[in-house]
Amino acid sequence: MIITTGDRPLTEVAARAERLAERLGVPYAPRGNQSMSKLLSRYGDEEALVVLLQGVRLLRPDRPQLQFHPSMGFVRAKRVLKGESDPMLEAAGMVPGDSVLDCTAGLGADALLFAVHGGERSSVTALESSLPLYALLTEGMAHYASGLVEVDAALRRINVVHSNHLDYLRSLPDNSVDIVYFDPMFREPLEDSAGISPLRAYANSDSLSAESVSEAVRAARKAVVLKEKRGSGEFGRLGFAELLRPGTKTSYGVITIDQRS
Ligand SMILES: C[S@@+](CC[C@H](N)C(=O)[O-])C[C@H]1O[C@@H](n2cnc3c(N)ncnc32)[C@H](O)[C@@H]1O
Repeated sequence: MIITTGDRPLTEVAARAERLAERLGVPYAPRGNQSMSKLLSRYGDEEALVVLLQGVRLLRPDRPQLQFHPSMGFVRAKRVLKGESDPMLEAAGMVPGDSVLDCTAGLGADALLFAVHGGERSSVTALESSLPLYALLTEGMAHYASGLVEVDAALRRINVVHSNHLDYLRSLPDNSVDIVYFDPMFREPLEDSAGISPLRAYANSDSLSAESVSEAVRAARKAVVLKEKRGSGEFGRLGFAELLRPGTKTSYGVITIDQRS
């Protein structure tokens, strides 16, 4: 992956792109007047992260372009800000101030919801193992402008970490985070999930391991939550109780931590 900017970037945007490249240890490619395909072939690479004034996108000639955008996360965040409920937050039993570890950050929509509902006293850490997706997310969370102050503030509060969740979970002390959340790539994709299909090309699609769940249970104080396709065998295989919701194609499964033990 190389990191570049759009045509004729502001100095501040070029500096941001350069800093990000340095932090990630990947080449910074000044854009000049070059087309993206020329730039990629000059660097002998096939993937570019393009830093823009208020956004960021991921490009590969053979794959759909992926832009940082909280999409449904923004719609859900607005509902939560109005005091409406959200099934994920209910499944997690999250109250403002709780700490959350989102083990499968993706485009950060769920992490945004946790940060909006959790408020300023909460802490939300979002882990992403794919380097291009991590780069998209860390830059997007830091600079995306949604038009809503509360949403932008929540995006900026999320601590995005490039890590495989099993390694990260193993490093955590017992009972150190209120909620641990998993939303892995579904074993059988939902055909009409427009939000997730462009992400699939860049994502880690490994199945969730029993060891990750057991480390999550050790680290969690309140609950471990799994999102999967409704009726998925993953709930039973990994020990989650599926919460069925009428008329939905996805479900949340929960392992509630017994706080007396
Ligand atoms: C279905 S997406 C998550 C979508 C996310 N909940 C959202 O709201 O945008 C799953 C993400 O988890 C990442 N992932 C899968 N396995 C992982 C692992 N072991 N550690 C960290 N991230 C992982 C994938 O790369 C992908 O980006």
